Amino acid sequence: MTAANQSEAPRQDAAATVERRWGAVCVGILGILVFLATFAGVHQATMPQARVETVDPTTLHIAGEFIESNLGSAVEPDGSVTVRLVGQQYSFTPQCILVPTKTLVTFRAASAEVVHGFLIQNTNVNLMLVPGYVSTISARFAAPADSLMPCHEYCGTGHEAMWAHVRIIEKAEFLKLARQRRRLTCVAE
Ligand code: CUA
Repeated sequence: MTAANQSEAPRQDAAATVERRWGAVCVGILGILVFLATFAGVHQATMPQARVETVDPTTLHIAGEFIESNLGSAVEPDGSVTVRLVGQQYSFTPQCILVPTKTLVTFRAASAEVVHGFLIQNTNVNLMLVPGYVSTISARFAAPADSLMPCHEYCGTGHEAMWAHVRIIEKAEFLKLARQRRRLTCVAE
């Protein structure tokens, strides 16, 4: 053994240790990324949603989930609320959406023809309604409020006139109304 070889051996050991350490860090980072992607998918936190639901925009008003009598807010067996709505040139149906405070509210929306925007002022509810797909987002509202819901994707000459209201009311009041009707809105009758 030469003098040079003797001093190489400990240096190679040190290099192998450092490489193993960085190898473990890389595997750890991959593990974290896989965990985050899985968590976001399971909790529907990806945007756009990884779980794609399709719907035929040409028969939206005739059959299925988005017929007019099925639009509005409904209390689910688990106590959450589902709001179904349709965007079309140039309005939303219903024009006034009623939701409770302190409740998980899931919006399910579809477009009848072109891309529309769905945004509730002063909240992080913000979606695109793409024809052919069901757009979903869940939210909780802390306090009663009246919010505007403007279309924020240019959808034609009437785009600037396309908006609706969202009325957030106390949960108890909402549940009282929900006992009287299957689907709730705040559209004046
Ligand atoms: Cu609908 Cu802009």
